[in-house]
Amino acid sequence: MLKNLFATHPIQASPHVDAGELPHDSLQGETSLKRVLTARHLITLGIGAVIGAGIFVITGQAAAEHAGPALVISFIVAGIACAFAGLCYAEFAAMIPVSGSAYAYSYATLGEIVAWFIGWNLVLEYLFAVATVAASWSGYFNECLSILGHWTGMSLRLPDYLSTAPLKFTDTHQIVQTGALVNVPAVLIVTALTLLCYRGITQSTFVNSVIVTIKVTVITLFLIFAFRYINPANWHPFIPPQEAPGRFGYSGIFRAAVLVFFAYVGFDAVSTAAGEAKNPQRDMPIGILGSLLICTVLYIAMALTLTGIAPYHLLGTPEPVATALNLYPQLTWLKAIVSFGALAGLSSVILVMLLGTSRIFFSMARDGLLPSRMGRVHASHRTPHVATIIAGVTAGVLAGLFPVSILGELVSMGTLLAFTTVCIGVLILRYTRPELPRSFRVPGGAPGVWFVSIFGALICLYLFWQSFRANWPLMLGWTTIGMLIYFFYGYAHSKLRKQNA
Ligand code: ALA
Repeated sequence: MLKNLFATHPIQASPHVDAGELPHDSLQGETSLKRVLTARHLITLGIGAVIGAGIFVITGQAAAEHAGPALVISFIVAGIACAFAGLCYAEFAAMIPVSGSAYAYSYATLGEIVAWFIGWNLVLEYLFAVATVAASWSGYFNECLSILGHWTGMSLRLPDYLSTAPLKFTDTHQIVQTGALVNVPAVLIVTALTLLCYRGITQSTFVNSVIVTIKVTVITLFLIFAFRYINPANWHPFIPPQEAPGRFGYSGIFRAAVLVFFAYVGFDAVSTAAGEAKNPQRDMPIGILGSLLICTVLYIAMALTLTGIAPYHLLGTPEPVATALNLYPQLTWLKAIVSFGALAGLSSVILVMLLGTSRIFFSMARDGLLPSRMGRVHASHRTPHVATIIAGVTAGVLAGLFPVSILGELVSMGTLLAFTTVCIGVLILRYTRPELPRSFRVPGGAPGVWFVSIFGALICLYLFWQSFRANWPLMLGWTTIGMLIYFFYGYAHSKLRKQNA
């Protein structure tokens, strides 16, 4: 049994696929997803998935309660962890250009049960990110309705019982009712974007590109116009003295790094589109590392500007950018633009994360670990339509019922575990399959890959360790559900096990 649990998926050197490939061809020679994505699409997908609630919502809390102006260091720490993981993802995604991301990479290196565990964590990451960001979307949606109502003299804002979560977790981790009915805008945005994902990858990436253009423009406008109001006095003291463990001082910087890590989550979702890239060997590394670099630069600039224009202790609100701009009546126009930009920005995160969830389900189903229906491809739309609907319905239910706070940190924890595995996997594969063609390699030769893999895995594990202990039982619960599904379904239906029998 142990042999079966740790059996690895054979990897063939991937045939080169490029723009010349017929649309119905695939790496496996089966009815396939559509290979239409270019490097530009992949970078845009990455930015679409990355910039969202992390920068527009969570940053304020991280500065006000944990790091102060040193928030920028927290962004750099989280960025370093992501850069190491990103390099490893890039090597893998170019070498094994399939939809399964870290799940597929672990299947090739560490064995089936580890792959299942990581795949299940990726589902946690993407699915819960959809739900978290949809709940934040609902807040910004109401904010935008208020602004429109103010302009038109009408009362457009939705009542709380229709726009907030009916359930919340208390500090003692009990679920209590809030009196609300359901978070209607959150459910509606998830439904609309699920339909878009169902319809086609070309349509989804087009909408994503439009949204990304809007949100990057809005962030650039914020940086340009807020820049002249920076008051360096707000950066003193740069690291406020420690008041409690994790609240200011160096421990606060690391605690904030765990929180803002959420802001980076998503660049890895680019790798789930490898099965739809025209030339994955060349373009996956560009997509993954390019989007990560652009987002890191924007985040560091945002962190400096935000803490420069407002005293950090004022920023602990659900819309910190708007809060900071409130201090400058001459920038009211910018506040409205930022609110609409945030609404657009959050939409693309939901969209790309939905694409990611369905591709993970799809890959697991193709390997027999989930029911084969989830591995079907729609005959004309060429999307994994069953997996898309299941992802959308589950995310819609979560988004309609649960608040932002509880879900966000679980997303980061799932992601950190996936990153750790990818970092270790890349090193293992360098030694177990040195002959595989690698169009992108972690730089620096053998010392480089050892350094990036080990150091990357250690930072990710350290950040995981820093996350709220209170969330660990939830992680354990999620893992237990996953393992039950594996042992009662996946183990018996695994295609690899049948082949090896
Ligand atoms: N990085 C994504 C966000 O911040 C999940 O919304």
